[in-house]
Amino acid sequence: MKSIRKSLGAGLALGAAVLVGAGLWSINAQSADKPFGDAASIKYSQDLWAALSKVKLVGANAMADKPYEGQEPHGAILETMETEVTVNGHTGTAVVKRNYGPGGITVQQVSSDPAAHLKAVTVMFKREAGYDADNKNWFWVKFKPDGSLHKNPKGMELAGRVAKGMDKGCIACHSAAGGGDYLFRND
Ligand code: HEC
Repeated sequence: MKSIRKSLGAGLALGAAVLVGAGLWSINAQSADKPFGDAASIKYSQDLWAALSKVKLVGANAMADKPYEGQEPHGAILETMETEVTVNGHTGTAVVKRNYGPGGITVQQVSSDPAAHLKAVTVMFKREAGYDADNKNWFWVKFKPDGSLHKNPKGMELAGRVAKGMDKGCIACHSAAGGGDYLFRND
């Protein structure tokens, strides 16, 4: 009788451990499955937007820059700026690209009213070592002009390691930039 009770207890304990283990596993699997568009990346993108607003690269008080004719997929007319900003205590390089459209507009039209033609603000921010060692630790984000996020066709917010492991998207395309730095502007 005693030994039955003992093994029953052990069985229950083991069952509980398996359940807890399974719970932890599914949390880990979830964040591993989602290299971007997860809650932490969305929050980080908001902090990055605030830092970029402060230095007037984005948002209502954004400084004017020199628009130029760009290329797909970014847009007909582009502006690209680079600076250092601090996000959550980490200082890194931020490359900000303002994407203007629709196709067919001119540099002149953008210069005279940038806000009316702004479609997206795509940003690469160099995060701390270990964030994404496979891809030079870049954080990728595609903002709407108001700082909220563009989504991919699957409804995932474009912030984080976009789209790590996939054959399309920011990382896949930028990995083709010369010199292995993921930056086309240095080519
Ligand atoms: C299909 C290829 C492609 C994809 C996908 C792509 N880009 Fe780019 N990106 C480019 C090219 C080409 C340039 C240079 C454009 C120019 O300035 O004329 C560029 C430029 C940039 C720059 C300026 C720095 C540089 O490399 O010159 C940033 C920042 C940027 N992209 C961010 C993003 C983000 C964020 C995403 C994903 C949401 C993304 N890009 C997706 C091709 C791509």
